[in-house]
Amino acid sequence: MNSAPMRIAVLVSGSGSNLQSLIDRCADGTIPAEIVLVVSNKPGVYGLERAEKSGIKTQVVQHGAFPDRAAFDQELIRVLDAAEVNLVCLAGFMRILTAEFVRHFTGRLLNIHPALLPNFPGLGVQQAAIDAGVRFSGCTVHFVDEGVDTGPIIAQAVVPILDGDDAKTLGARILKQEHQIYPLSVRLFAEGRLKLEGRRVRIDAPTDETPEAAIINPAPTC
Ligand code: GRF
Repeated sequence: MNSAPMRIAVLVSGSGSNLQSLIDRCADGTIPAEIVLVVSNKPGVYGLERAEKSGIKTQVVQHGAFPDRAAFDQELIRVLDAAEVNLVCLAGFMRILTAEFVRHFTGRLLNIHPALLPNFPGLGVQQAAIDAGVRFSGCTVHFVDEGVDTGPIIAQAVVPILDGDDAKTLGARILKQEHQIYPLSVRLFAEGRLKLEGRRVRIDAPTDETPEAAIINPAPTC
């Protein structure tokens, strides 16, 4: 007998391109799960439209309608629990969540961040990486803990920072990789292959081991 597919909720505040990558990989069967709800804290964002186009239920929970962060998060918890979700994916959700929310969903709350954590947490990180003069940036999918962008890391992708990059060009290069590693991470979660061991995430039976993989920037000439 087939068990019911894993139920995912995605929280957005904007364009939702990461949401789209998850919708597409659920639809083509790469991720063995179903996105049952998309929640936005802002009305009218494109992420909601993407969900509606795919026939996914949406809900707007406007943070401004609540007296404080705790009350807003209580309502989010209620909405997500009512949808009986097994996994909550933050995808460009621009609200810091309370410890209570994070504890409620501990071990089943993921986020994507456009930098190589633990470097460059927070906002404005593409420009921060350029300003720091590092040769590489990238993106990170991680379990959410009570800190800001501090939780156990599931997957990372690395991209070079090129001469002439600005936050926009670098951000676009990073975003392309986000659309790879978020579906990959959600797939591993849905397959039950992620084991939390303290701060480390162990992946059962990795299939894509690339122990010799390296990229060098600037490209080596000798
Ligand atoms: C992405 O860069 C993500 O890493 C960050 O917010 C952005 C959301 O983009 N958390 P989108 O809405 O998925 O297009």
